[in-house]
Amino acid sequence: MMRLVVVVSAVLLLMVDSSMMERILSRSRRELASPLHTQGIRDASGSYCQKTQERLKCCHGRNDACTVKYLDTICYCDQFCNRTVSDCCPDFWDHCLGIPAPIIGSCKRDGQWFHSGATYKDNCNLCTCGKNGQWACEQHVCLIEKSMIDAVNRGNYGWKAANYSQFWGMSLDEGLRYRLGTRRPSHSIMSMNEIQMNMDNNPHLPSNFSAAEKWPGKIHEPLDQGNCAASWAFSTAAVASDRISIQSMGHMTPQLSPQNLISCDRRNQDGCAGGRIDGAWWFLRRRGVVTEECYPFNPPQQTPAEITRCMMQSRSVGRGKRQATTRCPNGYSYHNDIYQSTPPYRLSSNEKEIMKEIMENGPVQAILEVYGDFFVYKTGIYRHTGVSAVSQDRKHGTHSVRITGWGEERDYTGRTHKYWIAANSWGKNWGENGYFRIARGENECEIEAFVIGAWGRITMEDMHGNHHHHHGRRK
Ligand SMILES: *[C@@H]1O[C@H](CO)[C@@H](O)[C@H](O)[C@H]1NC(C)=O
Ligand SMILES: *[C@@H]1O[C@H](CO)[C@@H](O)[C@H](O)[C@H]1NC(C)=O
Ligand SMILES: *[C@@H]1O[C@H](CO)[C@@H](O)[C@H](O)[C@H]1NC(C)=O
Repeated sequence: MMRLVVVVSAVLLLMVDSSMMERILSRSRRELASPLHTQGIRDASGSYCQKTQERLKCCHGRNDACTVKYLDTICYCDQFCNRTVSDCCPDFWDHCLGIPAPIIGSCKRDGQWFHSGATYKDNCNLCTCGKNGQWACEQHVCLIEKSMIDAVNRGNYGWKAANYSQFWGMSLDEGLRYRLGTRRPSHSIMSMNEIQMNMDNNPHLPSNFSAAEKWPGKIHEPLDQGNCAASWAFSTAAVASDRISIQSMGHMTPQLSPQNLISCDRRNQDGCAGGRIDGAWWFLRRRGVVTEECYPFNPPQQTPAEITRCMMQSRSVGRGKRQATTRCPNGYSYHNDIYQSTPPYRLSSNEKEIMKEIMENGPVQAILEVYGDFFVYKTGIYRHTGVSAVSQDRKHGTHSVRITGWGEERDYTGRTHKYWIAANSWGKNWGENGYFRIARGENECEIEAFVIGAWGRITMEDMHGNHHHHHGRRK
């Protein structure tokens, strides 16, 4: 049977002339439409369509006779050849269209061709050139989406959004995972008793208040936690720093070390992978921490969850006070005093009581539920907008911040908008010099749900300005 077919084809081949054969081949090839340029276009500068032009009017329309021999088959020089599966002659693009030949099986981007397997990053998504000549991109929601920035800035939300290069290229999930880092307080902590505040004499609360103005030089600048999910350590250290400075009337103005907490407060804490503020306060009370200068923040480079070894040890010197037994883990600071706090106390969620506390005793710590739009906050009074890159996307994470004051602002319609002033830990190029304002009196993003204050542990000795530098001092 097989033999018979071969014989018949041989006879047929003998019978047809070469142009006849081209037509038969051409028809079958067009029907089968097998790709001609799987390995790229060979001999793109050769003379093929140029030859057909001598005998036929090719290049335009469909003309199955516009063929030339190419390798062991034929190629086409009519417009019909340029389809998904190309059987065009190598010089079709150059000769007929006057454009460079595409690299078949590759993907085009910005006028350039890339081989399959090539990749590029589109914001937070990796795009890969597939075998089909199409780019396929991951579909993550990015932390910065132009559409979200534009929607916030077009709308009348009371605040404006901006792009931040430090967030560009991260996904929303990464932002929530690496830039926050406060565990929601447990149920028993959340139901911790609130302190009773005497509001009977109806204290005078000004419409504007700034801790930095009342206590100049004692309110610390916002730090930058980088891709370290340790706002639990940053907000606690920041509030304790301000409180110690205020309470000692400026005899001590330490900026306490978040890294000391991140690396050494390991009991149920996960360093740069998140932690609890009640645990941080426990450590500040029982163990204490040194200053940021002594134990500088060392943001994780590779794996954010990696925990660095604790480099600071201390011992009890009686009456609950402690002293460092090791030097500062850096070559330039000798000041390894340990600073401690008293037990933290919880304030009520009443706006006026929080205000009174800040005005009388200094900044407080608050938790904050962070949604995607908060990352792009630039200025104004923040309120969660519901504007999001993907409408169903309602992801959020728990963060903690330091409230340092409040104010109010009238808009052009005459309406008054009350706000808190709070310090974040995303560096000073974020928001309003590292601070943000957020709607006050309506528990916006739970900012009034869990508010904490604490005193520094300060002795008379501290107040007389002879706070010693203990063991490990280099002279
Ligand atoms: C050839 O194919 C490319 C890519 O599919 C297309 O952009 C172009 O318009 C086509 N040209 C003609 C003449 O059909
Ligand atoms: C945001 O900033 C990054 C880095 O500066 C830049 O590459 C990107 O194009 C910007 N995105 C938008 C939407 O402006
Ligand atoms: C409060 O501070 C804001 C911002 O600085 C300012 O616009 C506003 O006028 C102030 N309000 C009062 C009553 O001082």
